[in-house]
Amino acid sequence: MTILAHLSDLHLLEHDHHQRRGVARHRLAFLSTGAPLDAEARRRRAQHELARAARAGADHFVLTGDLTEDGVDAQFEVLAQVLDDSGIEPERITLVPGNHDAYADDGAWQRALLGPLAPYQATSNPDVCTVLDEAVIKPISTVLPGQSFLRSAGRLRAHDVRAVEQLASDPVSRDRTLVVAQHHPPHHRGLGVVDWIDGLVGSESLHELLLQRGAVHVLHGHVHRRLTRSLCGREHAQVFATESVRDTQHSTRLYRAEEGTLREVHVPTPMAQPVAASDWLTRSPGAFA
Ligand SMILES: [Fe+2]
Repeated sequence: MTILAHLSDLHLLEHDHHQRRGVARHRLAFLSTGAPLDAEARRRRAQHELARAARAGADHFVLTGDLTEDGVDAQFEVLAQVLDDSGIEPERITLVPGNHDAYADDGAWQRALLGPLAPYQATSNPDVCTVLDEAVIKPISTVLPGQSFLRSAGRLRAHDVRAVEQLASDPVSRDRTLVVAQHHPPHHRGLGVVDWIDGLVGSESLHELLLQRGAVHVLHGHVHRRLTRSLCGREHAQVFATESVRDTQHSTRLYRAEEGTLREVHVPTPMAQPVAASDWLTRSPGAFA
């Protein structure tokens, strides 16, 4: 049995963001509409969720994107510090980028993986997978090239879907649950224009793979709410989303990987230190997650 912790949408901020000027300042104000620009509170919430999942006995931690508010280098340094402070070994953490992590510039994520997030490269690089006792974790980046902060959509690349397909046929996945970690949901959001703005371009191929292979699962973020989806009448669910760490207390989900399936585990995890109610926000998920 392998226990996975699923955290998403941390939206971490750099401490001196108030010193920003020009476009960077306006971009941050736009992206954080409705959420206080409180770097310390966001950092504390992320720390708290990691600690809570660790206490609950998670073997591996999957963080499904929007790790930072707009992907400036200093925010990735804050993320690295939060992860380091958690005391969780880097080989037990998989990170994938979200659209917010690419708003500052295209190269930010790779730069972070070569810099402050280097300890997490081995489990987070899109070319790798992590093999656990009962699960295989495959990280995928759905970031659009030249991601504009006015468009929150993502793109699924054909070679990533082929890689998942090959992995599903590989002997390493025979007795394990295959878990794809990505930011955007692997299905259409609704109308064409909504999908263009906020959906996942190319999601059909992964959706088809999920229909064909019951042992393939997806953990995603972006929607800032808890979703559990079963496909084609299967008894077990294959697609899971969780709430935003920034916005919701106890947003972390735990799953048990066993016999090719993923099932949610509800573990009572009392907090070590009470968190003030004012530390937590309730914010409706918006189109620009
Ligand atoms: Fe988000």
